[in-house]
Amino acid sequence: MEDKEQPAGGLHLVGKKDELIEAKQSFRTLEGRDLLIIYHQGAFYAMDSYCYHAGGMLQNGDIEDFDGRLCIICPKHKYKISLAEGEGLYKGTDPSQNPPGPKWYSKGVKQRVHTVTETNGEVYVKLAKEPSWIESDYYQGEKGKVERAKA
Ligand code: FES
Repeated sequence: MEDKEQPAGGLHLVGKKDELIEAKQSFRTLEGRDLLIIYHQGAFYAMDSYCYHAGGMLQNGDIEDFDGRLCIICPKHKYKISLAEGEGLYKGTDPSQNPPGPKWYSKGVKQRVHTVTETNGEVYVKLAKEPSWIESDYYQGEKGKVERAKA
């Protein structure tokens, strides 16, 4: 499904709730942007479909809980990206523990996530326009590359 124009209020109809629940992960193109709509444990999420690391396709990535945060695991190099915020999470060593032990850290928001809403059994996505540049933009065509060059 491709939706090129920005609709009223920026809300793109992306499908019927039942179908998106059954599919679990659905690819959509909205305003020329490729997205993944994810249904997991009773909630919908939407994020750019290409991983911020090296453009891997996130679709069919496993979803797991890391330190209390649901993340999609990029199939390409296994980076973990939080579904709700698009943060890149990684496991490091916490030197404040004695002895130093493993701890989950955030690299900050790396993947652009979008707003999902439901009305009368239909699901809508509104593209996030802020901030003006996030790393995953790089894999969304020429505009992302130009913005990165400016950053
Ligand atoms: Fe490398 Fe996603 S492309 S982890």
